[in-house]
Amino acid sequence: MGVNQVILAIESLVLFAPVNFMEILSPGPKWSGQGKSKLEVTELLFEVPIDYANLSAGTIQVFARSATRYENPVAPRTDEERQKKSQKPWFVYLQGGPGCPCSPPQDSWITDIVLDKGYQLLFLDQRGTGLSTPVSSATLALQGDVHKQADYLKLFRADSIVKDCEAIRKTLTAEYPEELKKWSIFGQSFGGFCTLSYLSKYPQGLREAFTLGGLPPIGKSAVEVYKSTFQRVIERNKAFYAKYPEDVETIQNIAFHIRSKGGITLPSGATLSVRGFLTLGRNFGFHGGLDIIHNLVLRMRMDLSQFQFLTRPTLMLLEHNLTFDDIVLYGVLHEACYCQGQASNWAAERVGKALKEFQWLHGSPQNPSEVREHPLYFSGEMIYPFLFDNFPELEKLKPVADILAQYSDWPALYNEWQLARNEVPVYSATYVDDMYVDFGLAQNTAKMVKNLKQYITNAMYHDAVRSKTADIMKELFKLRDDSID
Ligand SMILES: *[C@@H]1O[C@H](CO)[C@@H](O)[C@H](O)[C@H]1NC(C)=O
Ligand SMILES: *[C@@H]1O[C@H](CO)[C@@H](O)[C@H](O)[C@H]1NC(C)=O
Repeated sequence: MGVNQVILAIESLVLFAPVNFMEILSPGPKWSGQGKSKLEVTELLFEVPIDYANLSAGTIQVFARSATRYENPVAPRTDEERQKKSQKPWFVYLQGGPGCPCSPPQDSWITDIVLDKGYQLLFLDQRGTGLSTPVSSATLALQGDVHKQADYLKLFRADSIVKDCEAIRKTLTAEYPEELKKWSIFGQSFGGFCTLSYLSKYPQGLREAFTLGGLPPIGKSAVEVYKSTFQRVIERNKAFYAKYPEDVETIQNIAFHIRSKGGITLPSGATLSVRGFLTLGRNFGFHGGLDIIHNLVLRMRMDLSQFQFLTRPTLMLLEHNLTFDDIVLYGVLHEACYCQGQASNWAAERVGKALKEFQWLHGSPQNPSEVREHPLYFSGEMIYPFLFDNFPELEKLKPVADILAQYSDWPALYNEWQLARNEVPVYSATYVDDMYVDFGLAQNTAKMVKNLKQYITNAMYHDAVRSKTADIMKELFKLRDDSID
């Protein structure tokens, strides 16, 4: 890929430094397999300060792809038409996570729907994810010792992500007419948390904001968050065993098998422990999540009854469903997402250990008759220190994860005063049965934000944007377009 163009950002420093440079890596129409028509996808690279409070600390790259519909007009366009086409209002997608990259536009579920509304799309890989100076144990090691690594990772939370967004917005819209300089932001899950930080800190950059399963538990500590989400996970376990009662015994037998082997080695070299196996419930809150676990458990049961060991395809599926070795930010920063002025100190583990359903978190040997007494409950979206002993990439990050868990000086991510007087229209899809972002806590937040409209449903789960795209997008745009009066 050649560098086609370098555009120097000319904005003056107002709140913080703008993007140092922007490079267009690859412009031009790209065939889109699923969409209605070809897309014009442009790969963009921005250089931003790693630390906006210390410009001498160096820069990182942030990668994004823009998408518009490819058009091939019969008659040549006038300059005015060309400008209109290239200056459509921006609509920025912020992915869930933390740590997850965006899909290329042709693979995203929302692309056609958003382009049909007259926007141009920007899929922005949040710093440290995807192609944005990605964080892995090897890239992190370049920072120096473990304390330097921890200091570096502290700069990968929502507060820094929204500064990148603002810097990039200013660069991309430098030549735009005034009314098109603000952009629309669309945050799924953790992307929604970033959206609330954005509304708190830089509302002047936003035309409108959408969140999906993405209202963060503002004002709550990590412990309070996990106290709520563990209850949701218990409900999902009950639903699972009600749907698949035969799995009570199957899962107990699998736990005994894993234990009798002292753990099982997965294809990447990771270790499957009983505790690790019981984190499979991270999938429980998705559409089809119960079936994913059942199908895995069924495979394990069939393998064990025929061969007394787990076959490679089964181990691969287990590994893919369990590991986040390739999105390590998810592991090291998950609890920090909930922290402001307080250490997380492995909050999920502390909360879980106090619950009778999750006594297995203690890891102490339980006698078989005790295990047989109750179904084994899976845990959900919780990160535990023992995971950093099970997965090879996480293992390398254990010391830095521990430093972050003990760190208490996390700056504020939200500004309640600003949210209470918010002028930016906010449209939120809120799921009553959300296993990842607790409904009760989300409703507390909804009350704090002025000009927020909600679509609340108990007929969709957290991943509706992926699993029920057309339905949820229709409801969100209805919030925007239909007046109830
Ligand atoms: C800013 O970054 C430089 C280079 O990493 C470092 O030497 C310096 O101590 C930092 N200053 C502050 C105030 O953190
Ligand atoms: C998880 O396991 C299921 C089988 O139940 C499989 O269909 C799915 O692809 C796996 N997920 C991943 C990410 O590999």
